[in-house]
Amino acid sequence: MTKLKIYTYPHPILKKHAEPVEKVDDDIRRLMDDMLETMYQAVGVGLAAPQVGVSKRILVIDYEREEDKPGKPLYFVNPEIVWFSDERVIGSEGCLSVPGQHADVERYAAIRVKYLDYFGKPQELLADDFLAIVLQHEIDHLDGILYIDHLSRLKRNMLIKKMQTHPSSD
Ligand code: NI
Repeated sequence: MTKLKIYTYPHPILKKHAEPVEKVDDDIRRLMDDMLETMYQAVGVGLAAPQVGVSKRILVIDYEREEDKPGKPLYFVNPEIVWFSDERVIGSEGCLSVPGQHADVERYAAIRVKYLDYFGKPQELLADDFLAIVLQHEIDHLDGILYIDHLSRLKRNMLIKKMQTHPSSD
């Protein structure tokens, strides 16, 4: 597997609306393998294809991996939120494309997502808790939205300034 370069704010690819995948083939699977490896090495819990410079609607997520524990990778191709709860939650979020920073973001507490899996098979998943938050964060990436876009302009600018003055903090 190949470790990929992670693009950081303000790279323009992070603002692009990513294209749907037409067919989940070996090339797409290789990309997902590389994305997962890249995410593990960067100690992240989710990674979207635009973050590695590929403007396609693909995500990998693994929030169960720890040092001595095998992970439980999840692969989402063309994910689409088909239902969300009335209830909302606020949680602290960070992003490999906004290194070293964290901020509180409001999200739906639960969502239902339709997607294609690693083998291109249609799936549906009801996600709540941490997975619901990670999925919303990652799906945002596919629409060119970063979690900092959900913050007030003042807060966002402060965070960007902090990121740029301490570039090596993550
Ligand atoms: Ni992110």
